[in-house]
Amino acid sequence: MISMTRTDFRDIASIVYKVAGIALSDGKFELVQSRLRKRVVHTRKKSYSEYVRYVQGEAGGKELQSMIDAITTNETRFFREAAHFDFLRDVVFRETTRPLRIWCAAASTGEEPYSIAITLRDHFQQSATSKVLATDINCEVLAVARRAVYSEARIASLPATTRDRHFRQVNGTNGDRQFQVKPDTRGLVRFARLNLVNEWPMKGAFDVIFLRNVMIYFDGPTRQWLGARACAHLRPGGYLFIGHSESLGINPPGYRNIQPAIYQRTEGSEITLPRRPM
Ligand SMILES: C[S@@+](CC[C@H](N)C(=O)[O-])C[C@H]1O[C@@H](n2cnc3c(N)ncnc32)[C@H](O)[C@@H]1O
Repeated sequence: MISMTRTDFRDIASIVYKVAGIALSDGKFELVQSRLRKRVVHTRKKSYSEYVRYVQGEAGGKELQSMIDAITTNETRFFREAAHFDFLRDVVFRETTRPLRIWCAAASTGEEPYSIAITLRDHFQQSATSKVLATDINCEVLAVARRAVYSEARIASLPATTRDRHFRQVNGTNGDRQFQVKPDTRGLVRFARLNLVNEWPMKGAFDVIFLRNVMIYFDGPTRQWLGARACAHLRPGGYLFIGHSESLGINPPGYRNIQPAIYQRTEGSEITLPRRPM
């Protein structure tokens, strides 16, 4: 079986950090080796070193995306960290009658943006005209998210009323029961590929940004930089949600921490954007 050397690992870690901001500590050696083994085999390279040279070469652009897809961790579930959805419904949605612009910035296979869409639909009913932009760096998970089809196990934790209202049963490939998010709810979400450490081309301010369970993969300076960029993309009074195990540091400029993992952009805050730390 092909094995990865420490030098290969360092080269891969450096590419992944530069391209995606993901910091791979030495403890991730085994994980990286096993996740990339299928890519080495698929591209018919004889070693990880040959694979690294290929990815860095002129012909390797497409493979670089497949490498990032293989490296990212995409764990997610419907209504993960449920308190955030309660806050959306009970505070954010109650504060306004106008349509909201919501950005879900590490959407993975779609459970998170669809949880937002379900919360919107349940609260505003047919008059839900708010829109959710859902982005991720990983093309494979975005394809899953766009199909919006989930196994029975993945929706098992949802109340029966939510399942009935927002999902319809579709035929699974192996005769198993699968469920697709209904068009009304699905239609509130638009998916696009976006790498958080590259340009954010969206124009206009967001009312809400979900940036959850992705910053754990970045180092401290990158986290603070992303926090500041998110602030600049929020309207004053807008909300940033991060994962409960994540932090933006103590008193991040431009924000008020109002609940665990929920920040509000303060009124009148001017944000000076730091350069990307490298
Ligand atoms: C663990 S999942 C979290 C999904 C969801 N936000 C949640 O909390 O359930 C992390 C996601 O971040 C994405 N990701 C990692 N690095 C990224 C980057 N540089 N730009 C955009 N997305 C990234 C991964 O592809 C993955 O889908």
